[in-house]
Parts: sequence; structure tokens; C-alpha cells
Amino acid sequence: MNAEEPRAFLCCIEPGCGANYPLSERIYVCSHCGGLLDVEYDFNLSGTSDELKTIFRDRLRANNPLERSGVWRFRELLPFVDDLSRVVTLKEGNTPVYEAPRSADYAGLDALRFKHLGLNPTGSFKDNGMTTGVTQAAVLGATAVACASTGNTSASMSAYAARAGMRAFVFIPAGEVAYGKLSQSLEYGAAVIEIEGNFDDAMRLVRELADETDLYLLNSINPFRLEGQKTIIIEMLEQCEWRVPDWIVLPGGNLGNTAAFGKALREMFDLGFIDRIPRLAVIQAEGAAPFYELFSSTDKSDFRPVEEPSTLATAIRIGNPVSWKKALRSLEWTDGVVERVSEQEIADAKAMIGRDGIGCEPASAATLAGIKRLTASGVIGKSENVIAVLTGNLLKDPDYTVRYHQGELSLEENFANRPRRVAAIKDKIKQLLAL
Ligand code: F0G
Repeated sequence: MNAEEPRAFLCCIEPGCGANYPLSERIYVCSHCGGLLDVEYDFNLSGTSDELKTIFRDRLRANNPLERSGVWRFRELLPFVDDLSRVVTLKEGNTPVYEAPRSADYAGLDALRFKHLGLNPTGSFKDNGMTTGVTQAAVLGATAVACASTGNTSASMSAYAARAGMRAFVFIPAGEVAYGKLSQSLEYGAAVIEIEGNFDDAMRLVRELADETDLYLLNSINPFRLEGQKTIIIEMLEQCEWRVPDWIVLPGGNLGNTAAFGKALREMFDLGFIDRIPRLAVIQAEGAAPFYELFSSTDKSDFRPVEEPSTLATAIRIGNPVSWKKALRSLEWTDGVVERVSEQEIADAKAMIGRDGIGCEPASAATLAGIKRLTASGVIGKSENVIAVLTGNLLKDPDYTVRYHQGELSLEENFANRPRRVAAIKDKIKQLLAL
């Protein structure tokens, strides 16, 4: 084997199984035991970690889409594509890290940074994983792709499928997807199927359909998606000049990101890119918190889905997350924690992130609400180095934002910023604004 040909394969994560499969196998779970699959590598890096760090950064100066992509410029750490001409990219990634002093103060921290994945081409972190998922679909010769979604996965998949000239089928819970997201799938030309049920129903159905038909499944149960999502962490550490933070905080829904972040950190530690592993803190919404319940219980194998998940943060309204076993493994590897937050806490935290001039969609704001709780309980220290991941753009769910500021969410109006109506008369305006 030479440095140009790293060996990659699929591997069952179940300790008692560990079956291996070639990448060409079109499977989403282990054929022997039904366990989740990892893409594993015999990494055979073409340089030292320091040399690769320089190469990753230098690629940003290039102009071709592969080098410009904030996923593919790290390709040595996800070497599953032999023929890079197959890559389907929208120049995703390269998303900013912002200082957020007001949010830090709100949460009781000296400082806080946000990595804003909402500044991706379709406005969420899904693009980091969809470029790799759709690329693998192309490599396998798939012509039609499918996903269940609370909105962002479907928006992203629809865009990448359109780029690749594939048909896209998205299955969404009827009436529960924010308009910003629904409008994207429609515009990108996907077939949108509104299921009369919740996300978990849609997920179950699309998995069965993918097993029985030619549809290639692009939910995060697909391990190639998670390879792309690893780059969120790689890029974040690059932006920290490779100085490892104490905590990385993220919202948890279907738990794909939690799975990918743990794998990224483990691999980067094993390969010598970092000398210690930061702790992960996963935040769930109170009404959709099965992973919080599992993590708080003594028997970590006794996962109990939430039958009727509920939260206004519709992106994470999920009761039966497919990646819970990988997520648990991530928390073991990183000495992580899980917290849950209320609707009021999410709404207020979201308004606070706006006051920093940043903004995000509701699910993303669970991070700040969770940090506030974890700081108050002493789990996170005031002076610790904390980075939170904002998963989706403010414009994804404008209804929620306007309703919060108009006091229409049946919550306390702690930071509501109501619009004020006035006659079109200058003096009246002066009076209103006390000018
Ligand atoms: N934040 C946003 C904005 C999301 O869209 C999602 C998931 C999450 C957080 C949770 O991430 O599933 O990796 O734990 N959205 C999926 C979708 C389920 O269909 O768009 P996770």
C-alpha cells in the first residue's frame, strides 16, 4: 500500500461483532447483527500532522472547488474516495468562529465562542456531511436519494442531489417543518412527501423503503455523512490554532453530530493532531430528551425512545435518535455530559445570541441555554475555554423568531423586542421614539 491508496472499509461498531465490509457494499447497518457502521481507515498519511496542518491551510488560497471546500481540504482525514473527480461540492464549510461576549456574560462565562455552521451554502451543518454522502451515492452509481428530515437534512440533500443530477425524495412530518427549510427543498426540485406522523415515523418508513427499493438513504445513519461532519471539528481546531478547548457544546437530536464529533476527536488524537481531547456537552430540549434520560440512568444499554416528542425547536423534535449508540461512545471517549433545557431557556438564549449580532435557529440556541445551566451547576468552570456549535441559520425559522418578539409563543417575554406601529406622520414618530 502506498500513501496515495489508504485502505478504507466499513466496520460494525458492536463490540461482539465488528464485521467488516468493503465500501462498495450498499448497506447502512451491519448485515450480521444490525449494528451501526463506521467508515474505518488504515490511515497511511502522506506527511506528519504538522505538515498536513500546513497543507490544509494552504489549500484555502487555491481557487478550485475541491480545495476551497471546508470539507475536502481535509480529505487526508476522510480518505474514502479514490476518484476525486466524483466529488459533489457546493464549497461548503469554512464557516466562521465568533467571539460572543454578551452570550458569555449571560451564561456566566468569562468568554465564549460560537462556530456558526448556519453560514453554510444551505444554511446548516448538514452541508458538511451531505457533500460526502452524495459523493458516495455518486460513486455507488445511485440515481435517486432519500431522507427523513425535520427540515435541514432535506434542504441540504435536495441541493446536493440537484448539483449531482440525482432525483431527491424527502420525507417530512406534515406541518412540522419550518418554512425556510421547506421552501429550500421545493426550490431545489426535490419530491417532498409530507408524512402524516412525526419525524420518527418518517425515519422508520424511509429506512424500509431504502431496503426495498433503489433509493439511497442519506440520513446520518449513513456513515459517509458522518465522515463529512468530522470536518466541523477539524476546522474548529484549526481555527483555534490547534489549541484544544476545554468544552465543545452542541445540540442533540438524531445524534449524528455527536457521533461524528467523537470520531473526529478520537482519530485526531490517535493521529497526533491534538495532544488532549476536549469534553463534549450535548444539549437536548426537555420535551425530546431520550438521550439525556439514557445518560442519567444507571443502565446505559436501556435506551427508551420518547413516544411523543415535543419542542418548538422543530429541528430536534426527535424521540428515537438512530445514532444513540455512537453518541454514547463519543461521550465515553470525551468524558462528555448531557444536559436538557426548557422552551423558555431556548427562546431566551436564542434572543441573546441575536444580541451578539450572530443569530441562529432555535435548536442551535439550546447550546447557550445548556451552557448557562452547566455553568450554574459548576460542571463548566467560569474561566474554561468553551466553543459552542450553532447548527442552523437564523433565517431558517423566521416564524419562531417573530412570534417570540411579538410575545406569541406562550412564553415569558424576557428579551422580546416588539415592533411598534405608528401613523405615517413624522411628529408621531418623533413622539414615539422620544427624539
Ligand atoms: N440543529 C439543527 C439546526 C438540526 O437541523 C439538527 C438536526 C440538529 C441540531 C440535531 O443534530 O441530529 O446530529 O443530533 N436535524 C435533522 C434534520 C434531524 O432532519 O434536519 P443531530
